[in-house]
Amino acid sequence: MKEIITIRDKQFELFIEQEVIEQGIKRIAKQINSDLAGKNPIFLAVLNGAFMFAGELMKEVSVPSEITFVRLASYHGTTTTNKVQEVLGLNESIEGRLVVIVEDIVDSGNTMVSLVEELKKLQPEAVKIATLLFKPAALRQKLHLDYVALEIPNDFIVGYGLDYDGYGRNLKDIYKVK
Ligand code: IMP
Ligand code: MG
Repeated sequence: MKEIITIRDKQFELFIEQEVIEQGIKRIAKQINSDLAGKNPIFLAVLNGAFMFAGELMKEVSVPSEITFVRLASYHGTTTTNKVQEVLGLNESIEGRLVVIVEDIVDSGNTMVSLVEELKKLQPEAVKIATLLFKPAALRQKLHLDYVALEIPNDFIVGYGLDYDGYGRNLKDIYKVK
């Protein structure tokens, strides 16, 4: 794999190799398998960023479960708060179900807080969060994360589903901006 890559106007350096990422994913899959046995969870993966994480995670999940994919339509107001307006593509009923959100990264936490709020209107039994990446130093919300594969410092990263300006999602390793 390349140590340094260029995407548009920025250079990125290799940060976390695929093997390390997938060890983190296997670890949380084991926790999920023991915590959610018999709970019939429905996994709700957030597109686009979580597509690769969701694929890898679900290969390791052995409890009977469903997975569905949603997209968040959000608007940016005058503040930095990123409010979720609508959850698109959720055709399954989640009433009374144990929902596990599958997200690429939790940064400020704004996206997850507003998504959980939206989902709770649909009366699930509970909503849990599984995230590939978490930047603890960037968190600005009171938010409980149930499953975190990797904690990272507050740097901008790409790869393994995450993009810079739409590019870089296909990279199998994670890179950080130089
Ligand atoms: P939050 O609402 O601030 O927690 O931001 C979450 C969303 O911002 C994620 O779902 C990503 O789409 C995006 N994001 C945050 N940090 C990064 C990053 O380092 N690289 C790429 N996307 C990021
Ligand atoms: Mg995202």
